[in-house]
Amino acid sequence: MPEAKSKAAVVIRDLHSLDDLRKVETLEQEVWGLSDRDVLPLTMSVAAKEAGSIWLGAFEGSRLVGFAFGFLGMEDGQVMVHSHMLAVRDEYRDLDLGYKLKLAQRERALSMRVHSMTWTFDPLQSRNAHLNFGKLGVISDRYKIDFYGPETSSVLHRNSTDRLWVKWPLSSRRVQERLQGKDRRAELLDVLSRLLPLIRFNGDGKPARTDLDAALTRQRIAIEIPSDIVSIEQKNSALAHEWRDATRWAFTEALKAGFFVAEFCRTVRGKQGPGAYLLERGKLEEFVPDINHHLAVVR
Ligand SMILES: CC(C)(COP(=O)(O)OP(=O)(O)OC[C@H]1O[C@@H](n2cnc3c(N)ncnc32)[C@H](O)[C@@H]1OP(=O)(O)O)[C@@H](O)C(=O)NCCC(=O)NCCS
Repeated sequence: MPEAKSKAAVVIRDLHSLDDLRKVETLEQEVWGLSDRDVLPLTMSVAAKEAGSIWLGAFEGSRLVGFAFGFLGMEDGQVMVHSHMLAVRDEYRDLDLGYKLKLAQRERALSMRVHSMTWTFDPLQSRNAHLNFGKLGVISDRYKIDFYGPETSSVLHRNSTDRLWVKWPLSSRRVQERLQGKDRRAELLDVLSRLLPLIRFNGDGKPARTDLDAALTRQRIAIEIPSDIVSIEQKNSALAHEWRDATRWAFTEALKAGFFVAEFCRTVRGKQGPGAYLLERGKLEEFVPDINHHLAVVR
């Protein structure tokens, strides 16, 4: 397996050819461990590309090391891009490639005059949570239970397929500031240190539930998750299921009561410690007033 050299050697570009799209199939199988049946069919990829979908690849030489695929969709009557897949080969992770692929997707969407992007991710995946909320500035008010069914052939879909449906308001001030690298970590840690989490990462690595009624009377709620759910799934699937049940309960109850997910802060206690979501009471539109920026552009 080639060593990841440096991020400078990796180029991000649109995927054009059949050969490019075939390379995606291999990467899908490598990253998700999908069966042949669950890989996106090549004919579908070609048609989607031709019909205006955004296909991007990260290449080291001719080797595809990451990709992003997003198609056009409608949400609340407005055109948006739904990013269906983002993947980076294991040995190329944490080099900002996921981030750069998202930035390229954003540019492509804006050039199509689309100002909103959505996608889903497993809220137990701490790395994804940090990339999505921390680095990109998404927000979410939807939790989907078993989005792709109870399981698929993917190794990443064994502990059910619950997903947060996130929204990335591409032209909003929030996102622009986030992309300028404005660091809110100190402020977030301060807020989180004063909250009793609704789900707390206990000393024994288990999720502990605290009082729901008390949490729902507050302005903010914290939900903690472990820093590495993948290794928990491998070592102790019962514990991974416990985390799923607990966080599913906390997110669904809080969202039902009028909260939304505003932030994620990694490692809130010590280096290998848990991360925490911060939920705020209210509506996304109040928190991000220019969330529907595209309406102003269209009119
Ligand atoms: C999600 C994925 C695309 C991210 O790619 P990537 O190239 O590693 O992303 P980046 O390097 O831009 O960002 C990763 C960030 O997470 C951080 N990180 C790494 N491990 C972490 C952890 N356990 N908890 C929190 N943050 C973590 C990195 O330090 C980095 O942040 P930083 O730049 O602030 O230091 C990649 O992990 C992947 O392919 N995962 C499997 C498929 C998947 O989940 N796809 C997305 C849903 S469809």
